[in-house]
Parts: sequence; C-alpha cells; structure tokens
Amino acid sequence: MKKSVLVLGLIALFLTSCGEKKKEEVKKEVETPVETTKEVAKEKVMNSDDFVVLGKQLFTDKTCTTCHQADAKVIGPSIKDINKVYAEKGGNIVKFLKGEAEAIVDTDPGQVAIMKANLDGFVKDLSGNELAALAAYMRSIK
Ligand code: HEC
Repeated sequence: MKKSVLVLGLIALFLTSCGEKKKEEVKKEVETPVETTKEVAKEKVMNSDDFVVLGKQLFTDKTCTTCHQADAKVIGPSIKDINKVYAEKGGNIVKFLKGEAEAIVDTDPGQVAIMKANLDGFVKDLSGNELAALAAYMRSIK
C-alpha cells in the first residue's frame, strides 16, 4: 500500500513538472509574434535618415569598420572608393551583400574571398532593412 502511494506521488510530481514545462513553451510561442510585430512596426516608420543612422550603427557593430574606412584603404577598399565604383558601374550594394551580385570594386580573388567570408559568415543573417540601412549609410559618405 505504502509503495503504491509513493508511486502515485511520483507520477503526480512527474505530471506537474511536465505541465509547467508545457506552459513555458506555450508562453514562448505566444511572445514571439508580438516581438515580430513590434519589429515590423518599428521598421515601417523608418525614413531615410533613420536608415543612415541605423546603418552607421550596424557598420560599427558588425565590424565593417575594421576593414572599411571612409577615406583610406585598410584591408578592404575605402567607402568612398566603393561608392565611386558603384556609381560609375551602376552597382547595387544590397545585392552584393545578399550574395546576388559579383564584386566590382576589387576583383582580386584573394580580396574577394575575404569579403565573401563575411557575407557567408554573418551578413546573411541580416534582414533586408538592415542591408538597406548599411547601403544607405555607405552612400551617405561623400
Ligand atoms: C575582414 C575584412 C572585411 C570586413 C569585416 C568587411 N569587409 Fe567588405 N570588403 C573587404 C575586402 C577585402 C573587399 C574587397 C573585395 C571585394 O570588392 O569584394 C571588400 C569589399 C566590400 C564591398 C565592395 C564589393 C564589390 O562590389 O567589390 C562592399 C559593398 C563591402 N565590402 C561592404 C562591407 C560591409 C557592409 C561590411 C560589414 C557588414 C563589410 N564589408 C565587412 C573586407 C572586409
């Protein structure tokens, strides 16, 4: 008799802990869409100035500054040189960052590979708006 009470107790304990876990999972699922909606709302009201501000922030946060300075070539070409070539050749920075367009500024395979490592590594995780912001910031450097 004692034994079965113990077993019942264990089962009850097991069931309650499972129930709590489920509740947590459900809570998480409910929270996600709210976050997403907030993000979208935030992104919708952005004007072009906001894009440049966000792009500047991302350019630093995402370590682009390590290799790209406004005026001087560091590891990668300067932002001004990139802008010049993109203007001349009618290039699209967002397409390049998405990996949908070839490099047109520095086509040396070694250099392209360095930038490609960034595209494959973390640039692919950025949203369309974030890429547009990066491009807007780069274009704002005159
Ligand atoms: C580790 C160094 C490094 C980092 C970090 C880096 N780049 Fe580059 N980037 C390069 C090199 C080298 C090139 C030259 C090769 C080329 O043109 O693709 C380049 C080229 C570019 C070009 C010109 C591509 C073309 O058409 O030739 C753009 C635009 C660019 N980078 C944007 C960015 C942005 C935005 C970031 C941050 C998200 C970034 N880079 C981070 C090294 C880097």
